[in-house]
Parts: sequence; C-alpha cells; structure tokens
Amino acid sequence: MTERISEEKLSEIRHSVDIVDVIGEHVQLKKQGRNYFGLCPFHGENTPSFSVSPDKQIFHCFGCGAGGDVFSFLMDIEGITFIEAVQKLASKGNIDLPTISSSLKKESAVSKETKRMIEVHELLRKFYHHLLVNTKDGQHAFEYLHERGFTKESLEKFQIGYALDSWDFMTNFLTRRGYSVSFLEKTGLIIKREKTQSYFDRFRNRIMFPIIDHKGNTIAFSGRSLGTEEPKYLNSPETAIFNKSKILYNFHLARQSIRKTEQVVLFEGFADVISAYSSDVLNGVATMGTSLTEAHVATIRRNSNFVTICYDSDQAGVEAAYRAATMLEEAGCNVKIAMLPEGYDPDDYIKQYGKDKFRNDVIGASLTVMSFKLQYYRRGKNLQNEGDQLLYIEEVLKEISMLDKAVERDHYLRQLATEFSLSLEALKQQQRQIYFARKRNGEKQKTLQKDMFLSSHLNQLKPAYHTAERHLIAHMLRSIDLAYKVQQLLQGNTFNIDEHQAIFTYLLGFYEEGHDPNPSAFITFLQDGKLKRIVANIEMMSISDELSEQELSDYIKQVLNYQKMLKIREKEVEEKEAERQKDFLKAATIAMEIIQLRKSL
Ligand code: GTP
Ligand code: MN
Repeated sequence: MTERISEEKLSEIRHSVDIVDVIGEHVQLKKQGRNYFGLCPFHGENTPSFSVSPDKQIFHCFGCGAGGDVFSFLMDIEGITFIEAVQKLASKGNIDLPTISSSLKKESAVSKETKRMIEVHELLRKFYHHLLVNTKDGQHAFEYLHERGFTKESLEKFQIGYALDSWDFMTNFLTRRGYSVSFLEKTGLIIKREKTQSYFDRFRNRIMFPIIDHKGNTIAFSGRSLGTEEPKYLNSPETAIFNKSKILYNFHLARQSIRKTEQVVLFEGFADVISAYSSDVLNGVATMGTSLTEAHVATIRRNSNFVTICYDSDQAGVEAAYRAATMLEEAGCNVKIAMLPEGYDPDDYIKQYGKDKFRNDVIGASLTVMSFKLQYYRRGKNLQNEGDQLLYIEEVLKEISMLDKAVERDHYLRQLATEFSLSLEALKQQQRQIYFARKRNGEKQKTLQKDMFLSSHLNQLKPAYHTAERHLIAHMLRSIDLAYKVQQLLQGNTFNIDEHQAIFTYLLGFYEEGHDPNPSAFITFLQDGKLKRIVANIEMMSISDELSEQELSDYIKQVLNYQKMLKIREKEVEEKEAERQKDFLKAATIAMEIIQLRKSL
C-alpha cells in the first residue's frame, strides 16, 4: 500500500464517533461498571460475554475472542474493507475525507463479484418496479395488487415490481448492459437449458418482491404468480450473496422500530409483513418460507428481548409457532404468541377487520407461551373423552414442570384442577414426579457439561511465560518508557509467542512514530485482524496500575526461562547422542553446559 489515510484523519474520525454508539446499533448494550456488556454478535450465546470499553474505545468478546477498535468492528460485522469502514465512520462523524486513490480502493476479486451481483439486483429492482407502476405491460399486475389491498405507499416502500411475461427479456436486457451470461447464471436470475445451452429468464410474469439484506442491499427476489400457477412463490436460488437461513425479510426497515419498541413481530409470510406495516406494525419480519433457524434466532435476540410470533392459524402455522417459541425461549427471549381466528393469516385478517382491530385484538392480546401451549395441546382432542383428557393433563403437567416460578406453577395447576374437577394435591404430586424424573435424567447431562467446561478451562490455562508476556504487553501499551525497558531487559531475545513478538515490534514502531500510548489508535495502526483481537483481549484484562520492579523482573525471567528450557532439552538430546556414539568427552562438555543453563534459571 503506497498511500495511507493519515493518522491524524483516523484519529479525528475516532474522536468524532463513540464506539458505544456504533456497536449499540448492532448489539443491545447494558452498562456495568466502567464497561458495557451485551450478547456477542459474532457467535451465538445466551449470557453476555461481549464487552465494550468507552475509555479505551475498544471491544472484546471473552467467549469467541473477537475484538478490536471501532473500525474493525464495522469491518467484521458488515464484512467490509478497512477503507469502507473509515468512509462510513467519517460520514457518521461529519468528517471530510480527502478523495481516496484507486490503489486504496483495490479489492479482492471475490468482493468485486459480490459487488456486481448486488449491482445487478439493484438495477433489476428499479426496473421491475418501474414496469409495475409506470407501464401498460405491468398494469394487470398493478390491478391484482390493488385488488389485494396493497397501497401505493407499500408498493413504494417495499419496492414491489413486475417481471414481464417473456422467456428472454431480462437475459437480453442484462447482456446488453455488459453482464456475461456465465455471471448472470451465478446470480440465479437466468437459467441454462441443458439441451441447447441457451438461457432463459427465471422470473416470468410474476409480482417481484425484492429481498433486501440487513444492510439495505437487494440480494435476491421472490416472485409471486398472479393466478393459481405453481409454485405460488418462486425464490432466487442460494447464491454467494443470498442465504435463506440467515435473512429475515424486512429486517433493514424494521430494525429502527425494533430498537425503539424493544419488540419484534415474527410473521410467516412477507405479504403479512407488508400488510402489518401498513397497519403501523413497523417491527415485523419474516423468514423466507423456511422454518426459523439458529441464525435467525441470533439476529432477533441481538436486537431485542421481546418477540411476538404471529403465524397463520392453520395446523402448519401452529406447529411452526410452537417450534419457533421453543427456540426463541431457549435463546433467552421473552415470547408471546398472537392468535388469529381459525382460517386466517395476518394479511386476510387485516383486510377483513382493519388495522386497529389487528393491532389491539391480535398483537395487543397475544398470549403467553404457556397459555398458547395449553391451547395447542387441546387441538385435535376431545376432552370429554377420558383417554384424550388424561393425555392432555399429562402433557400440560410436563409443561408446568418446566416453569421456574412457583407462583406460575401453582396458577396453572389450580386452573387444571378446576377445569377437570381434580384434587389439587394429586396434580401437584404428579407434577413433582415428572419434575424429579426429568431432573434425574437432566443431571447426567449437566455433569457432562461441567466436565466439558472444566476441560475447556484447562485448555485455557496457559504456561507461565504466556501470562507473563501478556502482562508485559499490557503495561507496555500504557507506558513508552516501559516498552523500551523491556526491550533492553530481553537482551536481544524475543517473546516466545510469535504474535506477542509481532505486537511488541509494532508497538515500538508505533511509539517510534511519535504516538502516545492509546489502545484504540494502536489497534487501528495494526493491520492484522488476529493481532488486533489479541491486543483488544489484553487490554480488557484487569491489571494493576503500577508494575513493581519485582514483578517486572519475574515476568522477564519467565519469558527467558522458557527459552533456556528449550535449550536445555536440545542439549539433553545432543548429550544422549554423543553417549550413543561413545564420544564421552563431548558428552561431558554438553553436560557441563546443561548444568550452567540450569543454574541460570
Ligand atoms: P399470499 O398467498 O400472497 O397472501 O402469501 P402468504 O404470505 O399468505 O403465503 P403463505 O402463507 O402461503 O406462505 C408463507 C410464506 O411461505 C411466503 O411468504 C413464502 O415465503 C413461502 N411460500 C409460500 N408458498 C411458496 C412456494 O410455492 N414456494 C416457495 N419457495 N415459498 C413459498
Ligand atoms: Mn396470505
């Protein structure tokens, strides 16, 4: 890299934004002492091990080791380059950037292709939308949508469009604009005919819903047929930019409202999301016709604690809601379930009863998961029938014994006792039996988990020199004098861990350039992601303010001793070899050296 953005500019940008605000847009943070904590966005977890230090302007996750400064956070979370992160933050902090030369902008071939894929989707989004709202060819589609109650605003907001009834219109449109067919095939927008090796448009005569990722880029389409043609919805295939198991429809628009209301509403279909949006339920998202995945759950959990599930009221919808509720609760969300009358989906309901009734009587009247489960177990049972009744009671008791709070358990037990005229005592006893039976089985699992926990901690028990090097680096990050002192004390030796030595070398370079100690500026200065993470990790250790002479010399000793130990082991091998060759003089000399080395430890 011949040119760099000047250190002054970077520092100006760093001062114009607060890392807590920037990360706060992606992670819910709670203040605890000097630092902020939240659930790590880089790995799935239920208890927060992700911390942000406003003093040092850095972040670090104790769980997965992610860490760095405000620039590396954006690079990692959004998958963008350093320059892009700098540009984003500069505009956020209202800092002017000198125009960036092309050499800095050079990117890998992979991200270039990704860019082009997004570009072609963006182009089509605009074009499809234009066909729908402005042309005669799209008029019947427009009328269909009008008929279904889509407003002009929602067509605009969700950038809905129309794909012409043609086998090759889009193929020609795009190749004329310089996109190669082999590239277009990769986007999934066109399909190759095996026989003739010619291409045709995937989407023909369909209402086009652009799928927009969490950053606002169009990355795929879902096309709905206008009539009864199958399939009802046709999606783009999975591509380099489109991953169904991660994307939540409308998340980019909903995000702001999700943060404000601290609530997400989860729908099954995107027609529902759009209808709900026009009913002022702005925090709705939907999966892409697939069931909820762990990745979806992680995205939701990261952005809010409260989720309302509003799925179709048919059998499939109820089953899916049950599964989603279980997954979300396991991830630590507070879940409620909005129920619709039999035979309705949210979109139908809004059309028939209007938006106020939807907001008040459906979303506003949503059930706790327990009440929902009680209804769920009733489905398909005739509770007048003794067998069905016993089965129902057993299922409900199982659910009750999962509840943590005694008052809640008591509440539902009483409800059950009243409904079926049973003795409360008998019910309680049976519930306890279920609880202890499960606990006995569960206990075995817990011990296993504990063993795994211990062994993973043992792995983390690093040798003494490792800890010593980390402590030395922590202190050197705070004091220039100490950095030079350590360099002197090492007498030409290096740290044992290569990354530590690299950090040490860079740190001396950083001070050499006239910088004062500054953790986040140093992390920016480092270009290697791994080194950034290690420095963030070291910065987050709690260490004493002062390093006494005694501590300093102990640490240095531990670093050097390890190298001497290695030397000794090497010599021992040589000694054995000399003995084997009956070169006793040589063996004796080596033995002397070993003794010397041992003495110096
Ligand atoms: P409308 O019938 O237009 O009101 O849509 P809907 O949202 O009511 O659809 P439905 O409840 O049948 O399906 C919910 C979601 O499942 C849709 O938003 C799609 O994501 C997905 N889906 C439905 N039908 C199909 C299909 O034929 N193919 C695919 N790939 N997905 C589908
Ligand atoms: Mn529908």
